[in-house]
Amino acid sequence: MRTRPSGIRAAQTERPDMISFSKGHPDPALFETRRLQAVIDGLLSEPGSAEDSLQYSAGAGIDGLCRELCKLMQLRGVDCDAGNVLITNGSQQGLFLSALAFADAGRQVVVRQPVYTGALQVFETLGLETVEPKAAGGTPALIYEIPNFHNPTGASLDLDARNRLVDYAHRTGAILLEDDPYGLLRFDGEDLPGLLALDAGRGSIETARTLFLGSLSKTVAPGLRIGWIIGPRDIISKLTLLKYVQDIQSGTFVQQVAVGVLQDDFAQSVERAKSVYRSRRDRLLAALETHFTGRGRWSRPEGGFFVWVELADGVNASALLTKAIEKGVNFVPGGAFGPPERFGSYLRLSFSHTGVDDFDRGVRRLAEAYDELAAE
Ligand SMILES: Cc1ncc(COP(=O)(O)O)c(C=O)c1O
Repeated sequence: MRTRPSGIRAAQTERPDMISFSKGHPDPALFETRRLQAVIDGLLSEPGSAEDSLQYSAGAGIDGLCRELCKLMQLRGVDCDAGNVLITNGSQQGLFLSALAFADAGRQVVVRQPVYTGALQVFETLGLETVEPKAAGGTPALIYEIPNFHNPTGASLDLDARNRLVDYAHRTGAILLEDDPYGLLRFDGEDLPGLLALDAGRGSIETARTLFLGSLSKTVAPGLRIGWIIGPRDIISKLTLLKYVQDIQSGTFVQQVAVGVLQDDFAQSVERAKSVYRSRRDRLLAALETHFTGRGRWSRPEGGFFVWVELADGVNASALLTKAIEKGVNFVPGGAFGPPERFGSYLRLSFSHTGVDDFDRGVRRLAEAYDELAAE
């Protein structure tokens, strides 16, 4: 079995004054610890509740959480019920189980690169061949896409591209994996239907070829490890069996916590998160405008956590990272997200985690590193 390090941790060199644009972690100020405390206290103290919360439960997930997630999906245009849901340990497990179920080693996965390193790691670990949409021929086993606020590019697919992907899945019989951990975090622009919403809209969720991978990691807390897969019930049954073999079930207690979080004004928490990340994005874009103009071009994401930068004059991002780390700033070079020969002069800046008051200083350090490298 072949596995490789993500290339992201390598960029996360720690030193006390390091300004890190590398981590795609949520802002910990958004963790609603008091609300969580109240939910947890309730679970452990209400009569009969602790016995339930600390016991084994259904392999696909507790009914209350499946129902809450169906309500959430309904708001996003997907009509489903508890039989269409599998609760996973983060969306990463959903991705792994789906790939495991539908692709034997040697089969093709259609994936646009650059792309989320965790997806590349899954495909590589399972011995799958990754191909670009244009190079794909025959019948791929899987199509993988992050339609909203892509990791690492921050870009979103337009409606045509979304419909084309659904067409393509039905034409080839491939399973379309819609990985959407950032979808609720839209700051501006038009909200577009997701791939499963479009697919199920053509018939029903039972005729869809799309599996939706969701997560509470970016809107609540990644430490909870709550993710979910939504899809046709025959596929969900198969995946539930695989999950059982792997880890029996997701923790009952943490699922109960998630129910409490979703029932306690979740929409308001998402609004708060959107407003924090919107202003973080704006601060980073302003810092780039002020200090990095002429040294590269960058995206303006309508949501999510990431800005994708193309360095001017083909300057190499890995070489820049070495200099940048010396100056006390880091990021993830583009080569972590696909072939370094294609993405060598790109880099991903995350605006989700580092203190905003450091953004200006961080980008200034980056500009100094760029200037030194360009002058060599
Ligand atoms: C595109 C994408 N998919 C999946 C994940 C995994 O998230 P989770 O914490 O839900 O496993 C991430 C995390 O960064 C991500 O960016």
